[in-house]
Amino acid sequence: MEAAGPLPHSPVLPEDRPGRHGPAPRAHRTGAPVALITGASSGIGAAVATRFAAEGGWQLLLNGRDQERLDRIADHCGATALPCDLSDPAGCGQLVERALDVAGGVDVLVAGAGIGWAGPFMAMPPAAIDEVLAVDLAAVMHLTRRVLPDIVRRDRGHLLFVGSIAGAVGVREEAVYSAAKAAVAAFAESLRYELAGSRVRVSVVVPGAVNTPFFTRRGAPYQRSRPRPIAPARVADAVWDAVAHERSEVFVPGWLQLPARFKGLAPALFRRLATRFA
Ligand SMILES: NC(=O)c1ccc[n+]([C@@H]2O[C@H](COP(=O)([O-])OP(=O)(O)OC[C@H]3O[C@@H](n4cnc5c(N)ncnc54)[C@H](OP(=O)(O)O)[C@@H]3O)[C@@H](O)[C@H]2O)c1
Repeated sequence: MEAAGPLPHSPVLPEDRPGRHGPAPRAHRTGAPVALITGASSGIGAAVATRFAAEGGWQLLLNGRDQERLDRIADHCGATALPCDLSDPAGCGQLVERALDVAGGVDVLVAGAGIGWAGPFMAMPPAAIDEVLAVDLAAVMHLTRRVLPDIVRRDRGHLLFVGSIAGAVGVREEAVYSAAKAAVAAFAESLRYELAGSRVRVSVVVPGAVNTPFFTRRGAPYQRSRPRPIAPARVADAVWDAVAHERSEVFVPGWLQLPARFKGLAPALFRRLATRFA
């Protein structure tokens, strides 16, 4: 296979340079496929790490900020902990750099790190807007930008982004979070066109409410009666399913695709009903 070289129309990053990691395709250090999972110190990301570990045969690289929690999950999964903050591009670059140094390549990126913010948009502090966009959207793009040259060079790999039903339908008092998740879905869709014809896959897993510390951490408890929060292990199953069966989009629970499709087909009616019944 020929080395693909740097992506067109883009500045050359250290990991784009053919000499940086030797000639492509590079063998991974352990021979096992490598999954880099962000958000792995808690909730969905921790469940995804546990799911991949249960499948066996993977080299797992786990990211989060809380070193103690991350180490505990990494020990449990036989994984390597690579803690760092992803709220700026430098952190994303450092993480991928360390991942490539440790493992020699990344086959699957599960971008699961995320934060929420809930409340009226006019009450949202500008710094909170920046933070939600940085972690939920920009980090996904920066990680992808850093990891993709290696994947394209080997013409094999899978990018999986954790989206949200909020991005598919929009949610009152979660305007910026919903916008970030919608943008992640559009980013994935656009990348798929760019990568068509290659063996690189892009998936988005779209959960509804999930029973994790997410709501406590954003400072606003989950108060809707529907959808009812599901266990993070169910989202991890959906992530595994998307990777194993190369699915582009997986809603979890599955019935959530109905409101998303309905909104696509009849947006005005959907909006009227959503406004009335929230
Ligand atoms: N829970 C839900 O109802 C729900 C529904 C739909 C989608 N999601 C999405 O699912 C993903 C995971 O959420 P969760 O429910 O598992 O929440 P969670 O339990 O709060 O976990 C969030 C994870 O993101 C990491 N993270 C946050 N900010 C970070 C930063 N600046 N740099 C690096 N890592 C950072 C956290 O690391 P530390 O803890 O180490 O700081 C943690 O591992 C998010 O993208 C979220 O938007 C959640």
